Amino acid sequence: MKCSEILLFASFCVSWSSAINIPSKEEPKKLKYLIDPPVFAEVSGRRGDNVTLPCILQTKPSHYKVKWTKLEPKHVGPENIIMISNAHAFKPYGRLGARASLRKAHIMDASLKLSHLELEDDGVYRCELINGIEDESVVITLRVEGVVFPYQSKNGRYSFTFHEAQKACAEQDGTLATQNQLYKAWTEGLDWCNAGWLVDGTVQYPIIRPRPICGGELLPGIRSYGPKDKRRDRFDAFCFTSQARGSVDYIPGSFSFEQAGQACERQAAELALVGQLYSAWYFHKYDQCDGGWLRDGSVRFPISNPRERCGGIPEAGVRSFGFPNKMTHLYGAYCYRKLEFVSFCKPQTPLHLSPLTKTWI
Ligand SMILES: *[C@@H]1O[C@H](CO)[C@@H](O)[C@H](O)[C@H]1NC(C)=O
Repeated sequence: MKCSEILLFASFCVSWSSAINIPSKEEPKKLKYLIDPPVFAEVSGRRGDNVTLPCILQTKPSHYKVKWTKLEPKHVGPENIIMISNAHAFKPYGRLGARASLRKAHIMDASLKLSHLELEDDGVYRCELINGIEDESVVITLRVEGVVFPYQSKNGRYSFTFHEAQKACAEQDGTLATQNQLYKAWTEGLDWCNAGWLVDGTVQYPIIRPRPICGGELLPGIRSYGPKDKRRDRFDAFCFTSQARGSVDYIPGSFSFEQAGQACERQAAELALVGQLYSAWYFHKYDQCDGGWLRDGSVRFPISNPRERCGGIPEAGVRSFGFPNKMTHLYGAYCYRKLEFVSFCKPQTPLHLSPLTKTWI
């Protein structure tokens, strides 16, 4: 696959940023009530996990409320309150509030428990102690662990408006990636010579091996076009996904697209989404040197142990054959089976499946 070699035509207007913007912290102010988090200022978890965002009091005022807010990303409204709590009442707000509770491990504990992490939970949170006199707060970052995957439309390169890119990621079990997620993916080896939307409306791409066709012979780094017109400009997408609740299997065969779907159905599964294949590759080192159909009509295969006969690219990754003609009888099928099916239908004798490579994700 030569996706990383595709010409970048618009390279003249590329700017280069070597470092991500770290949001400037509000305070050097000395805190009286709350303990400034020296160690656990960043908490991480995978999709589906339960996490705790720490917030501990050092002095307890006689009356106070605790208010948890999500600060970033900001696009959810003027103030994205998760919950407000006092000695007697706990009031949850919005989508996050429904999965939130206070840990209350001890009398000085105002830590927030978030259950069943979702991709969109990634971001910056604030724990605020409100006592009417000297309100103070600490800021904690929640990082959802996962993998960034570039996604191109079946209509060809640079086809997505911002909203189409958002939709395309959602359809592949992902979200548009954040700047931090793209940066981390770059440190882990993502080199991609096609610009894609990020969730903040900017368009960027990560380069490890600088080359003239990919924005010039600058240093390695994230090339950025900056913010683009969300309705008019068209690019690819950088999607982000995390752990999924099912397994991805490969069924060997020479299937057309339709036959591949039927092969999965016979296994009580369905064709996998691109995000699900990346998740299996990233979290479970899924390695299968055979092209297989996915639900979007693309053909891909995951490689964790790069070898000459499996694409010949020295780095691990998910390779793509793009979107072949759906009548081509050449490829196997990557199927996704929900975990729920297995747990609800646990048979006495092991369910007999054809000899598949099985990866729990
Ligand atoms: C996560 O929290 C939910 C609700 O609080 C609970 O039902 C579930 O068992 C927890 N899961 C894990 C893995 O601890």
